[in-house]
Parts: sequence; structure tokens; C-alpha cells
Amino acid sequence: MPTRQNTEKNTQTKSSQPTRTEIQPAKGKLGIMIPGMGAVATTFVAGVEAVRKGFAKPIGSLTQMGTIRLGKRTDARSPKIKEFLPLASLKDLVFTGWDIFEDDMFTAASKAGVLDRELLNKVKPLLSSIKPRKAVFDHNYVKKLDGTNVKKGKNKMNLAEQVRADIRDFKKTSGAARLAMIWCGSTEIFLTQTEAHQSVKAFEKALTRSDESIAPSMIYAYAALMEGVPFANGAPNLTVDFPAMHELSRRNNAPICGKDFKTGQTLIKTILAPGFKARMLGLNGWFSTNILGNRDGEVLEDPQSFKTKEESKLSVLEHILQPELYPELYGHFTHKVRINYYPPRGDNKEGWDNIDIFGWLGYPMQIKIDFLCRDSILAAPIVLDLLLFMDLAQRSSELRDLGIQEWLSFYFKSPMTAPGLYPEHDLFIQSMKLKNTLRHLKGEDLITHLGLEYYD
Ligand SMILES: NC(=O)c1ccc[n+]([C@@H]2O[C@H](COP(=O)([O-])OP(=O)(O)OC[C@H]3O[C@@H](n4cnc5c(N)ncnc54)[C@H](O)[C@@H]3O)[C@@H](O)[C@H]2O)c1
Repeated sequence: MPTRQNTEKNTQTKSSQPTRTEIQPAKGKLGIMIPGMGAVATTFVAGVEAVRKGFAKPIGSLTQMGTIRLGKRTDARSPKIKEFLPLASLKDLVFTGWDIFEDDMFTAASKAGVLDRELLNKVKPLLSSIKPRKAVFDHNYVKKLDGTNVKKGKNKMNLAEQVRADIRDFKKTSGAARLAMIWCGSTEIFLTQTEAHQSVKAFEKALTRSDESIAPSMIYAYAALMEGVPFANGAPNLTVDFPAMHELSRRNNAPICGKDFKTGQTLIKTILAPGFKARMLGLNGWFSTNILGNRDGEVLEDPQSFKTKEESKLSVLEHILQPELYPELYGHFTHKVRINYYPPRGDNKEGWDNIDIFGWLGYPMQIKIDFLCRDSILAAPIVLDLLLFMDLAQRSSELRDLGIQEWLSFYFKSPMTAPGLYPEHDLFIQSMKLKNTLRHLKGEDLITHLGLEYYD
């Protein structure tokens, strides 16, 4: 198992010298390409349009609302992130997507039932103009779904070529200067790496023989990276998290990141667990259960899709609490996660957590959380930030050929890291890593929070 020291050493060597990275300006339109035009994707696009038209505010988006402190606390320099860095402007975003259903984005958003009719009507012209391209889909990878808007091809390589043609077509017809793709499709069945995933060469051979270890999401990712388009993965699927994709991403200067948007229950978990550890409070158990009634909930009823999600949700506590360093506090906790499909609740998930902690002299205590959240409302700003940051990464001389953008771990339940590196799950460390990366790109001092100089 990789050690934490290993992680820290690597972070420090990369970021200790402030140098200014060359960042190309965000000129022209940014074309957003979304496989999976369901609840999250439509809530994101409708939201961007509502913000552009001045009907609503981009709450939850760091790129739109966040500031970044520069220099000393006494310097009073805290510009908005979007003013500090040349991010694409919302007015320059144009959209396309793929889905197995033929509904345009307005119909899909109406069916998803996340946003109210009044708001949707105000953004109807844009939403109804976005019609899904034919999807790459195979029922064997998402057992609960079947649709008709699906590409046919003689093998998986041919399907990838069709997606590449879609990408080129969108670039041409939309007039976009740059592109970025984000997977908002359903959670696929649990897959592990095989020989086919180990190099680009092996992966391409496997595409040609339609190897079953290649899921549809991997075909979109391969097509994007071949076209030099950054790819972010919002689901827990394997998708771009294996050596062949890492290689392709670096080779084509097309950044990648994933996996699985960190929204409701896991967001809360990665806020609370670092607090318990900071105060050396012990943990006996954490039981998390959800009721959810949207299509995502239905897909997750299939045990194989749930397994993919469960792996993603379970990993966070072990990494944050470090039982190997604190066996008396975290050596024996029970962690259970359940998702129950309950149609009446729609997108308005309810997540319950029962947390059994213990304190001084081992005395037990309990915490109960009942989070009445809205899944897609929490996910949409993450989609926006990831796309803008991935586009920035591609324009940055220092980030574009790194492959995995670990500094975007902040947004994910299962952050991708370089092979052998320990993922960082603590939301506050992730936030510091993200902001320090932005400071580093502009040659600003990193903030360590040491602060002794104020008392000299
Ligand atoms: N909402 C959240 O808080 C959240 C958090 C983390 C991860 N996610 C993940 O984000 C994804 C989207 O969530 P959602 O709530 O929008 O789900 P959704 O079911 O509303 O939308 C997913 C869409 O993907 C389509 N799809 C499935 N396979 C496809 C393929 N191969 N090509 C093109 N389209 C395909 C489906 O037809 C559907 O319209 C899911 O994988 C979910 O697990 C969501």
C-alpha cells in the first residue's frame, strides 16, 4: 500500500518553487460535450442558461462565486477566482450530448423533475435546441436501461470512430474553439482492469475485437482523448482510470479526472470525518442509508451497478481516518452504505447517517444526520467547475501533459491519482490543494497557514 509520506513528498517537490506557468487566453467558444443527458446534465445546462440570463445565481460553484486569498492576511488581496485566472466565460459555453433516449434537453429536464416549470420555460429555447446524438450503449453494462437512440457498428473501434466523427461535427457546426467532455451517463456495472487496459496498443486491439472489458463510457473517453479533448468522469465507472487512458491523455495533452461527483452523503462524510480525526475522537461505526427516486436510483437497484457505487462510497473513511496510524481510534469501525430506490421521492434524496463515535475514556456518543438534499442541484455546479478547470488545465503549459489532474480531487468521491499514490479525501486538504495549484500557476506564494511572521 502506498504511504502518505509518499504523497506529501511528491506534492512538495512539484509545488515548492513559485514559477509562472504560461496559460493561453480563453478565446472563442468552449464546446461542452455530455454523454448522458439526464437529471444532472439538464440541471447543469438549464442552470448555466438561467445564470446567463440573470434569472438565478450560480450557488455552489467555486469558479463563479469563490475568491482566492493571495499573499499575507494583511495584504487584503482576495480576487474572485474567475478574475484571477483566464477561465472560459459562461457566455462562451455551447452544448451537445448523447443519450439512448430521443428526448431533447427540455423534455429530459421536464421528466427529471428537478427544476420547476417556470424556470424551465424561461430557458426553453436553448434546452429544446439540444437534441441527443445517438449513444454508444450496451444493455449488458447498465442492466436497468434500454433505449432506441443507439449507434450500430461492426465492432467497438467502429463505434469509437463514430463518436470521433460526432466530436468533429460539433466543433465545426458550433464554431467552438476548444472542447471538453464530461460523463453524466448512468453508472455502469463494476469492472476491474484486464490486460486490455494496460496500454493504448492493447486497448486498441481490444476495441477491434469488441472485448467485453470495454464498457461504453470507455469508448467515449477514448474518442475524446484521441481528438485531444479533456475528459472528466462524473460516475464511479472505471472509464478513464487505467494505464491505457493515462498514456493517451498525456500523449495528446488532453487532461483527465474522476471519479464520481462528491455530492450529498459523501460530501458530508468528508467534512465530518476530518473533524473527528483532528480532535482524536474514535469511531465505532457509520451507517449511511438513502432513499432516492430518480433514474439514477433505479439504475443503482441493479446489484452490479450498485457495487460500482458502493466501492466508491466506502473508500473515503479508511483513507481519511488512517486506521493503520490510529488503531485504538479507527481500527475496528463498521461502515455500511445503502441506497434504496423509492420512486415517490424523485431527485429529492433523503440521506440518513447514524454515526457512533467515542470520546474521553472510551465513552460512546451518537450523531444522527438527516440530509434532505437535491442530488442534481448539488452536482450541477461541480459539472460547471470541472469543465472550466479542465479547459484551463489544457491551456496551461504545466498541466496539459500531466494526464490525471489530481488537484481536482475536491470534486470527487474516488479521486484519481498517479499509480501508487494515496488519494486525498479530506475536503479541506483537497480545497487547499486546489487553491494552491491555482496560486502556483500564477507564480503566487503558496499558503501554508504558518503565520509566525505576524508576531515578529
Ligand atoms: N446527482 C448526483 O448527486 C450524482 C453524484 C455522483 C455521481 N452521479 C452520477 O452521475 C450520473 C448521472 O446522474 P443522473 O442523476 O443525471 O442520472 P440520470 O439517470 O438522470 O441520467 C443518466 C443518463 O445517462 C443516459 N445513459 C446511460 N448510458 C448511456 C450511454 N452509454 N450513452 C449515453 N447516455 C447514456 C441515460 O439514458 C440517462 O438519461 C450517474 O452515473 C450518477 O451515478 C450523480
